[in-house]
Amino acid sequence: MSKPHKQIILGAYLGGVNHHTLWSDPEAGSQIDFASFRHAAQTAERGRFDFFFLAEGLALRERLGLIFDQDVVGRPDTLPVLAALAAVTEHLGLIGTINATFNEPYELARQLSSLDHLSGGRAGWNVVTSFDAFTGANFRRADFLHRDERYTRAGEFLAAARELWDSWAADAVAADREAGVFLRDAKAGEFAFDGAQFDISGRFTTPRSPQGRPVILQAGVSPQGRDFAAGGADAIFSPYHRLDEAQEFYRDIRARAARLGRPADAVKLLPHASFVLGESEADAIERHRDITRRQIGGRTAQILLETVWNRDLSGYDPDGPLPDVDPDPEGPPVIRGRARIAEDAHRRVAEWRALAEAESYSLRDLAIHVFGRTEFVGTPEQVADRIDTFVQQDGSDGFILGSHLTPTGLDEFVDKVVPLLQERGSLRTDYTGTTLRDNLGLPYPNAHPDVQPNVQPDTTRVA
Ligand SMILES: Cc1cc2nc3c(=O)[nH]c(=O)nc-3n(C[C@H](O)[C@H](O)[C@H](O)COP(=O)(O)O)c2cc1C
Repeated sequence: MSKPHKQIILGAYLGGVNHHTLWSDPEAGSQIDFASFRHAAQTAERGRFDFFFLAEGLALRERLGLIFDQDVVGRPDTLPVLAALAAVTEHLGLIGTINATFNEPYELARQLSSLDHLSGGRAGWNVVTSFDAFTGANFRRADFLHRDERYTRAGEFLAAARELWDSWAADAVAADREAGVFLRDAKAGEFAFDGAQFDISGRFTTPRSPQGRPVILQAGVSPQGRDFAAGGADAIFSPYHRLDEAQEFYRDIRARAARLGRPADAVKLLPHASFVLGESEADAIERHRDITRRQIGGRTAQILLETVWNRDLSGYDPDGPLPDVDPDPEGPPVIRGRARIAEDAHRRVAEWRALAEAESYSLRDLAIHVFGRTEFVGTPEQVADRIDTFVQQDGSDGFILGSHLTPTGLDEFVDKVVPLLQERGSLRTDYTGTTLRDNLGLPYPNAHPDVQPNVQPDTTRVA
């Protein structure tokens, strides 16, 4: 039997704090003005994307104790931005990356439920746990949670949030004017959660939202992160773009989901991806080369390699050979607030030396090779074909697409690639459902099982 043709899920990622965003491009707009968010979201909706997506950074990065302003610094908080976007879009899902390590379930569940109400059922939460104590210091003094504990906390956080979201039956609010009864459920909002991280009970203030619960994404790839996602998330924001790697991740998550008692396809896989289009393949390759060299100039190349060397590399010529010193992974951190990519810096640097030797790479060439990242480069036909093939071959269920240009980078994709995917029958031509869950093909979560009718009518309140 041939496999069913998959519909591609698309999210739009508005670049934030990273070297990919070309903030100094003459066409680049503000990273903060609402006009930028509105433009990108409305473009995504025009392209029939499933959702708009924001990442989160809870600390300003530092290099050798000074604020790191090589690329974009600072951004507004996610939830207000998404709430404002709810008013200027109709169908687009609104997914925010929000940390489970530094928030409280009651507060965040309330905010997300409110976003779901305000948007008519379009809210989503990408659960992250944070990777460093430097970020943690903004929230808790001199203490940070180990990875295992962060996922324990995230698991409990999600379970507690579900308890809160489920504490209102879908039909708890009667608002019966004739009878003068507002609530038909005496237990509306009643909850109790008892765990090692959270021991809370009371009443939740927010009635059940259109989606029942917001859509849950997860980002993080350790075994703990994979189990967390396979056990409780609706989708994963993944870093795997090479087809073989991505297929392996896909199989792994499906197997974990099945082991944890969920349908194997319960969790959608969505890698981040970026693109560069051209009128011909050669044109696209040339544009890509130019964009990548602007993303990773000489100074940025030094800084990117510092994340592994953990030494000040500003004295090394970007167009010269690799630094002739060993990395210093045990030394005081040169860069803070950015993930260090190497578990074993010595081995990584040895591999890079061999690669640079074989390819005659300069310091900057190596940084471009390692950190330059554009998954889809080609004509609109080539890009549409590669995206579709990747999805149909189970590398993923779709992509979360970003561009080097804020906020207009997605326009070209929507104008040129989206129609080709629609012609192939791989992308919707119009929205059919009303909620984000509908659009993603996710089931509505079971409502609160035991509605308790009823509160006695309060006749004194009827005029
Ligand atoms: C694709 C991807 C995107 C992420 N985006 C964010 C983010 O926007 N904000 C954040 O604080 N952490 C982000 N993280 C970090 C993760 O939440 C997590 O803290 C980190 O990956 C360590 O977890 P792990 O060991 O399971 O990978 C991201 C991770 C991945 C893999």
